[in-house]
Amino acid sequence: MSRLKCVNIGAQLMLLLVLLKMLTVINVAALDFRHHNQRDIENIMRNLTIEFPHLTDMYSIGKSVRGADLWVIVVGVNASQHHPLIPNVKLVANMHGNEVVGRELVLHLAEHLLLEYGKNESLTRFLNTTHVHIMPTMNPDGYEMSVEGSCDGLIGRANALGYDLNRNFPDELSKFADPEQKETHLVRDWLHSTHFVLSVNLHGGALVVNYPFDSFPGVNSRRYSKSPDDDVFRQLSLIYSRTHPTMHLGSSCGDSFEDGITNGADWYPVYGGMQDYLYKNASGYQVLVELSCCKYPRAQMLRGFWERHRDALINLMFAVHMGVKGLIFGQSQYSDSLFLPLEGATVMVKGRESIQFKSTKYGEYFKLLLPGEYVLLVRHPCYVPVEIPFEVQGSAVTRLDVRLFSSDCFQSPAAMATATVKLEDIPSSESWHQRNGKESCMRLKNTVLVHLLCSVVIAMLFL
Ligand SMILES: *[C@@H]1O[C@H](CO)[C@@H](O)[C@H](O)[C@H]1NC(C)=O
Ligand SMILES: *[C@@H]1O[C@H](CO)[C@@H](O)[C@H](O)[C@H]1NC(C)=O
Ligand SMILES: *[C@@H]1O[C@H](CO)[C@@H](O)[C@H](O)[C@H]1NC(C)=O
Ligand SMILES: *[C@@H]1O[C@H](CO)[C@@H](O)[C@H](O)[C@H]1NC(C)=O
Ligand SMILES: *[C@@H]1O[C@H](CO)[C@@H](O)[C@H](O)[C@H]1NC(C)=O
Ligand SMILES: [Zn+2]
Repeated sequence: MSRLKCVNIGAQLMLLLVLLKMLTVINVAALDFRHHNQRDIENIMRNLTIEFPHLTDMYSIGKSVRGADLWVIVVGVNASQHHPLIPNVKLVANMHGNEVVGRELVLHLAEHLLLEYGKNESLTRFLNTTHVHIMPTMNPDGYEMSVEGSCDGLIGRANALGYDLNRNFPDELSKFADPEQKETHLVRDWLHSTHFVLSVNLHGGALVVNYPFDSFPGVNSRRYSKSPDDDVFRQLSLIYSRTHPTMHLGSSCGDSFEDGITNGADWYPVYGGMQDYLYKNASGYQVLVELSCCKYPRAQMLRGFWERHRDALINLMFAVHMGVKGLIFGQSQYSDSLFLPLEGATVMVKGRESIQFKSTKYGEYFKLLLPGEYVLLVRHPCYVPVEIPFEVQGSAVTRLDVRLFSSDCFQSPAAMATATVKLEDIPSSESWHQRNGKESCMRLKNTVLVHLLCSVVIAMLFL
């Protein structure tokens, strides 16, 4: 009797669960294809975070000149919490307020990723191992001034104070600099507080992928400005243009680009652009995608843009898992056998030393590389520098952790060994982070002293 009751209750519970499940499914109203304003963007994001609490997070990096939030939605497993070696991908759209296709594409992308989680295996694996930070508009004030149907105007391009945000980043190659705008400042703070391995900047007015460098020293005329990672940037750009049904044909909007990609400065030089800054000063790779000939097309065109750009965006994001990544540990001065994640170590690849990435506050580094054999160079003023050969294979990212030994000039070079650390050894709490921060400062003081002493000893030897 009681057993039957149990079964009965069980069945009722099941029914309730099924009903609840149906309710939540019904709740997911598919995003429509129209232009969404600032309030819509906020509501869409809020709805997605309510529907998919475990796969999303939402934050604002601050407010524009006119007080509109620069919203970001994060999509991925444990979206609200960073885990070491989980790379962040960043998509920023609508930096030029009148270039609006990207705003809608990234909203649809967020929804698509969330709806496909647990259904599509490659997207599920991607969200299990990646965090995608999506900012539909970096220039909400410019957007407010823009006009639907205006394909190549300039109204709404700049921010509320009339400055072009993609000319507003610090650029040591430029003699002139506009005053730093609020939006630029917020984005700079953002990309120095969150490390983005791969970023995509979405624009409009052409159909092409544009990769660094955008600027070069000297005269302001067009010329190929090659970065040390030119092969990587070209590959990232080709992944996009070849996935898009027509971009790779290279002839659209009255322009012609071989394979649908171009070096930035070879098209037209830009000083103070976001992508050179990110690559030179924030340890990340960025490309700029020009999505459509028309900057502000009519809403009925949006579905077509989404269909043509969807897999290109997805395949480009997948490329964040290539090359090499790992953790850098520094030897503790309190215990020779203790190694703690080290922030601020300089990480370079031999032959590409002109770009110096820094390890993150978690001790991570990420270098995107094509398959091949390389040498990793890691430096920090307080530690013995290392050079480690490694190989990148096509199928997966190479994991290479590095231990740096305390630089004590009386220590023998034989101690300059490196070792691979097992995943279980990674301290993951905040405590090591704080400890590590403190230790670096103390170590710096000590090292200055040691270096002074060393210099004196060496000087005496030579006298
Ligand atoms: C958000 O969800 C609510 C309730 O399901 C719905 O009424 C509203 O239209 C949604 N808003 C957007 C912008 O999708
Ligand atoms: C999963 O998503 C990827 C990327 O959009 C797509 O190429 C692939 O066809 C999808 N797989 C299935 C089985 O739908
Ligand atoms: C994604 O992660 C979930 C939970 O850890 C796991 O059950 C699932 O098998 C993973 N899927 C893929 C495709 O990696
Ligand atoms: C999510 O959290 C688990 C457990 O802490 C961790 O193993 C996993 O790598 C995390 N995944 C992501 C994508 O952050
Ligand atoms: C950015 O990096 C370049 C090249 O390393 C350097 O010359 C410049 O001073 C850096 N700019 C800032 C603002 O840190
Ligand atoms: Zn633009």
